[in-house]
Amino acid sequence: MIVGFIGFGEVSSTISNILSRNGIQTVTVVKGRSEKTNIRAIKSDVQIIDSYDALVKGSDVVISANSPANALNIAKKVSKLMDDGIYIDLNNVSPDTTLKMSQLFEKPQETLPKIEEKHSFFKKQEDVDMRNMFVDGAIIGKVSNDPTTILFSGQRSGDLAILNNYGLNIMIVSNKPGDVSTLKTLRSLYTKGVSAVLMEAYEASKEIGMVDQLFEILSLTEGETFEEKSKSRIRNSYKNSKRKVEEMDEALEFLDKISPKGKKNFMTKAARDKFNDVK
Ligand SMILES: NC(=O)c1ccc[n+]([C@@H]2O[C@H](COP(=O)([O-])OP(=O)(O)OC[C@H]3O[C@@H](n4cnc5c(N)ncnc54)[C@H](OP(=O)(O)O)[C@@H]3O)[C@@H](O)[C@H]2O)c1
Repeated sequence: MIVGFIGFGEVSSTISNILSRNGIQTVTVVKGRSEKTNIRAIKSDVQIIDSYDALVKGSDVVISANSPANALNIAKKVSKLMDDGIYIDLNNVSPDTTLKMSQLFEKPQETLPKIEEKHSFFKKQEDVDMRNMFVDGAIIGKVSNDPTTILFSGQRSGDLAILNNYGLNIMIVSNKPGDVSTLKTLRSLYTKGVSAVLMEAYEASKEIGMVDQLFEILSLTEGETFEEKSKSRIRNSYKNSKRKVEEMDEALEFLDKISPKGKKNFMTKAARDKFNDVK
């Protein structure tokens, strides 16, 4: 099996290294990307190739892990090139964006094989085209070698359970793209909101020289591992603030769509602005 990565940042390099340690060949393209990405790829076991065309045509599974703002455009380009295999989107995008991507990979009806009349009795109305190559994916928590849990939904997601034999921890949620991104977005309303609040409490305590005292008093009620976990959250939020703004924009798009008219989603907007304020 060959797995191709579009984007070779923290997510792709971590997953690629796990897969190649377990005997799967991985490929990526870094032409035109930053020095950081080029170095990451050179230090990994991934095979660096020259064109996205070759990556898409030569991979059994294509993984898109780049940025929420680029995800849809990349899916548009790949869907035009791909006629076989599985396309997984791992970006933190809204369920709406996920469904738009999934539709790009639906084969037009006229290319479906004709169903013999005598069998049509057995075909349920809700039967779906089993050939949609798009799989909605989500990494739960921060990607790591531990390995992180990855959720999948989509018609071909069952085929990906095999990756559990190659060092990953895969959970299949359903055959409907959008189910995983809905779960992931709901989760991030909570987790990213907490990160933004932690950043502000940390900044205030730093201003008055009471960082240690803040974590000590919080640990009394929040548990022994709280300090370590929160500091990791805070570090990650400063480091990836630009990406977090994009993720919160996707979450806000979801909230606006499902909320009753006039409802203001104060907390999520404030968390977005907090990440956007990082210099
Ligand atoms: N990190 C996590 O733990 C985590 C967890 C859950 C979900 N995610 C999601 O996974 C995605 C990737 O996250 P990450 O942490 O790996 O990000 P990252 O470390 O910032 O890496 C992003 C990679 O994508 C490349 N890239 C950006 N735009 C591209 C484009 N148009 N075409 C090809 N490559 C492109 C970047 O190249 P340059 O260096 O040239 O910019 C870089 O190699 C994000 O959408 C994020 O929301 C991340």
